[in-house]
Amino acid sequence: MFNPLDHQGIPLERQLRNWRELDVDPIDPLAADPYTRCRIIALNGIEVEAILFSHQFARTCTDPEVKRKLAEIRYIEAQQQRVVNWLLPGVPSALETTLAYEQVAVDLTSWVARMEPDPYLQQAYEFGVLEDFDHLYRYANLFELIERRKAAKVVDDLTEVMPGRPTKAHHRHPVDNVRDPYDRTTVNPLSKLHALTIMAAEQQTMNFYMNVGPQYMEPIARQLYQEIGLIEEEHVTHYESLVDPGETWWERLVNHEYNECYLYYSFMTQESDPKVRAIWELHLNMEVEQLRIAGDLMRRYDGREPADILAPALPEPVRFEPNKEFLRNLLATQIDLTTLGAGYVREAHERFERMQQQLHGGEAPASERVIDEHRAKFGDEYRLETQGPHPVAALREEKQHV
Ligand SMILES: [Fe+2]
Ligand SMILES: [Fe+2]
Ligand SMILES: [Fe+2]
Ligand SMILES: [Fe+2]
Repeated sequence: MFNPLDHQGIPLERQLRNWRELDVDPIDPLAADPYTRCRIIALNGIEVEAILFSHQFARTCTDPEVKRKLAEIRYIEAQQQRVVNWLLPGVPSALETTLAYEQVAVDLTSWVARMEPDPYLQQAYEFGVLEDFDHLYRYANLFELIERRKAAKVVDDLTEVMPGRPTKAHHRHPVDNVRDPYDRTTVNPLSKLHALTIMAAEQQTMNFYMNVGPQYMEPIARQLYQEIGLIEEEHVTHYESLVDPGETWWERLVNHEYNECYLYYSFMTQESDPKVRAIWELHLNMEVEQLRIAGDLMRRYDGREPADILAPALPEPVRFEPNKEFLRNLLATQIDLTTLGAGYVREAHERFERMQQQLHGGEAPASERVIDEHRAKFGDEYRLETQGPHPVAALREEKQHV
């Protein structure tokens, strides 16, 4: 297996790219593998996290020499982000990208849930994925309603589109979104990478919705982005609270760089588009050097060896692949869960009910109305059920007779 600590990367002073090198060809929106787009979105989230993390670190850092080193690496991360996100083609609407964001959330979180060794962390991913699964269904209905287009053109038939835990039930009291963190001294190193990856993915989704939502003219679109954008805030709270807050800044820096190596390596081994694969490989070679520098900073300022906190080799590569049976099993068993404190319950408790009353005010939220409006206009809902009827009988679609 690949251990990035044993490899030589591209020296930092040779990582800077000029405009010509930064001007990458976007993927072909009609011919590209949907999972290539998912890998681009996931890695964009990772690079945005690298940039914002480094800014936070710099703002609390009193040593000018370290600040300058962080600025130097951060500029390269910023170039990497511009390259990765600019691989996405221009699209007629942000809704198309939104469907891809939810597909990322569904299939990346499912993979992580399946591979996660710690049962408490695994439950956190299983819980969250059923919500993004429902978001995909709500946005798919909005897509057809306002653009007359079908989500299948975006997600292909890799990811099913049907109700998950209903979006209206995602609005929990904020204190019930805070989970217990793992213990950095005993946790499996893979769990740290999982938490960082999903946290970064949810963070970019939240940022995307809160910025593109108001660009729509249609009231139902504006309202749906506002509603789901607030749930992504809950998801960021949920996932970030899994990370041990006792990690030092140096340890966090090493974990971030290591995770970047892990994901570029993973996607390089899976990528079907050769031009995109070449970028994953180039960025891996940059990250290996960034990890080496982070490790040196840790040795110098933390007095510890990076190898002491990292796995001896990269774990099994992360893969984008269909998770249909896994999700159907979760739908059948976990759809009615909510959270209470740091744990999970099946009953709607008092704090949940109070939050629901305050937020909904007795009216149907946009996530319900978008389905009603779709039914009113087309006589049915938009769904993509490739493996048979919905596993929960109550969520099977009643065909209207009009
Ligand atoms: Fe990076
Ligand atoms: Fe979502
Ligand atoms: Fe989410
Ligand atoms: Fe990096």
